[in-house]
Amino acid sequence: MIDADEATLEAALLRKQLSQHNYLYYTQDNPSIPDVEYDRLLRRLQQIERAYPELQEIDSPTQRIGGEPLKEFKAVFHIAPMLSLDNAFDDEELVDFHHRVTERLKYQGKLSYVCEPKLDGVAVSLLYKNGILVRGGTRGDGLVGEDITDNVRTIHSVPLRLKTDTPPNLLEVRGEVYLPKIGFEKINHEARLNDEKIFVNPRNAAAGSLRQLDSKITASRPLEMSVYSLGKIEGQDCPATHIKTLKMLESWGFLVNPYTEVVEGINLCADYYLKIFEARDSLPYEIDGIVFKVNAFSYQQRLGSIAKAPRWAIARKFPAQEEITCLEAVEFQVGRTGAITPVARLKPVFVGGVTVSNASLHNQDEIRRLNIRIGDSVIVRRAGDVIPQIVKVILEKRPISAKEIIFPVRCPECDSLAIQVDGEATIRCSGGLVCSAQRKQAIKHFASRKAMDVDGLGEKLVDQLVDQELISSVDDLYRLDIDQLSKLERMGQKSAENLLSALEASKITTFPRFLYSLGIREIGDATSLSLAQHFKNLEALQDSSLEGLMNVSDVGPVAAGFIHRFFSQMENIEVVRKLLGIGICWPKSTLDKKKPLPLFGQIWVLTGGMEAMGRPEAKEKLQILGAKVAGSVSLNTDCVVVGAAAGSKLKKANELNIKVIDESTLMQLFRQNNLL
Ligand code: IVH
Repeated sequence: MIDADEATLEAALLRKQLSQHNYLYYTQDNPSIPDVEYDRLLRRLQQIERAYPELQEIDSPTQRIGGEPLKEFKAVFHIAPMLSLDNAFDDEELVDFHHRVTERLKYQGKLSYVCEPKLDGVAVSLLYKNGILVRGGTRGDGLVGEDITDNVRTIHSVPLRLKTDTPPNLLEVRGEVYLPKIGFEKINHEARLNDEKIFVNPRNAAAGSLRQLDSKITASRPLEMSVYSLGKIEGQDCPATHIKTLKMLESWGFLVNPYTEVVEGINLCADYYLKIFEARDSLPYEIDGIVFKVNAFSYQQRLGSIAKAPRWAIARKFPAQEEITCLEAVEFQVGRTGAITPVARLKPVFVGGVTVSNASLHNQDEIRRLNIRIGDSVIVRRAGDVIPQIVKVILEKRPISAKEIIFPVRCPECDSLAIQVDGEATIRCSGGLVCSAQRKQAIKHFASRKAMDVDGLGEKLVDQLVDQELISSVDDLYRLDIDQLSKLERMGQKSAENLLSALEASKITTFPRFLYSLGIREIGDATSLSLAQHFKNLEALQDSSLEGLMNVSDVGPVAAGFIHRFFSQMENIEVVRKLLGIGICWPKSTLDKKKPLPLFGQIWVLTGGMEAMGRPEAKEKLQILGAKVAGSVSLNTDCVVVGAAAGSKLKKANELNIKVIDESTLMQLFRQNNLL
């Protein structure tokens, strides 16, 4: 180990480097070194601080990993009350707010407002003395909160030391601590695996993560904090407007939400609301509305506050994503693989922009976890385009008549025994292809868009075909004739002809689509593509050993087991043989096999409307060229394709300096690779 003088110098240098990299990574979303290099620097600093504990400082990046657990939280007394916000639930209420403001100010003309997304997390106050973070507190009742200093120190977007050589003597800033959507999913995924408490939504997860007496737990949660107001500043002048204050805070190393904007007049506030509302689902974190604030502090002062909310700000709320409704019944549906899924029939409720009347209850474990009974009042959540979920039962409202949910012992469709495989939560029908429900689902899957894409072969039609025993397996589809089809309900001569041509057209497909259409358990479209790229032809895949299958990226032991079993069953081989016999084929890829795939290893994002082809088709072609196609723009994105009316993804791509191309350039790329 080095001597004390060298250690002091090296520790200071490492601290400076680490906090700069931390800032670039977490606040600017723009890292300049790989993660392993960051970890190496951090480990070196930890090593030095262990050898020379006197060098450890409270603003050292090593302090972000959490310390000794506390027995309880101390109280923090806020320097100035932490206020809340009044809400406006429609444009009229927003305009009323504006009138109240202008009347009080006796102001005519267009007033400057700062527009900010209303992050759905936990309000937190941070206190800095001479540029060093000394205290973090929750809002509490607005006057007294809880001291969560150790916990906020673990949040990487919270600067431990302000990025300025001339910090104010005292600074108190406020902002929202939140959990990005991905972090929320990750925490709940891990909780499910460990049979721990599941969080209802990202806000609860953020609050739960922040209120941990053991800051090491908080450190393990990917929390972020963005700041939105100044509580107090001493020893330095306060800027004259809110926006200048935010810019100043940003320059000191705080994260300020990048969608923050100043607009002139209330009409532009309404436009901003719509713009962000539309981008809402594509944002990486949850927002529950927009906050509009009068920009000039002089006006804010003249307006003052009433009760707990300022007169100079308002929250224009988005429609709710969580609602209460009643579980009226539970039905059991049989899926393609025989899984018997309990489906909740709900009293219809308007939530997240649609009327919801069904939700999956997944399996017995989920029912046990929710402790749900028929007749219960439940909280239904529908965020973005995610399928609706029952997240919680309101036990206090449980009626005496509430009935337990009993799982069937026999398949509700074919009466075969329902069995539970060891280690699986799912109950399955043991009937296999005897079960008409399983057959129907297998055929629907086969014909679906990402599989053989048979236009016009919808759910209802498959049900009829199976019920009338016109088909019992996927290959039977190709033996249907015009007489059989035109006699079906809601099927004229023309539609029957169209369906036959769609079936004929579907015969020319791609290898990955064909594989996916077989409906092998755990084999989705992405894995089908990896398998196809790896094995190149069906024979090689069919003949592969388990080990050979596990060599494919994306294929783990479970998936490999399912593929292996699928191709070792005679009836499956027979169906594949028949399908090929009927003429299903895939032209050999036009890509030169010796050349690596042109987009191999790249991550692409498609956004906005496309004219030449649908997004699924563009996605598939990009995948054929070796790219992975992601749903959101991140630092790992290599290229973003923008169609008409592209919104937040384009903005983010520009912010992150990511290559952007238009649709015609994409088509050119496809043409160059013989995909058009
Ligand atoms: S300003 C005096 N700005 O919303 C102003 N609040 O419903 C007080 N929130 O307690 C808050 N994003 O936790 C403000 N951009 C934003 C916000 C925001 C989220 C939260 C905050 C506050 C609550 C009020």
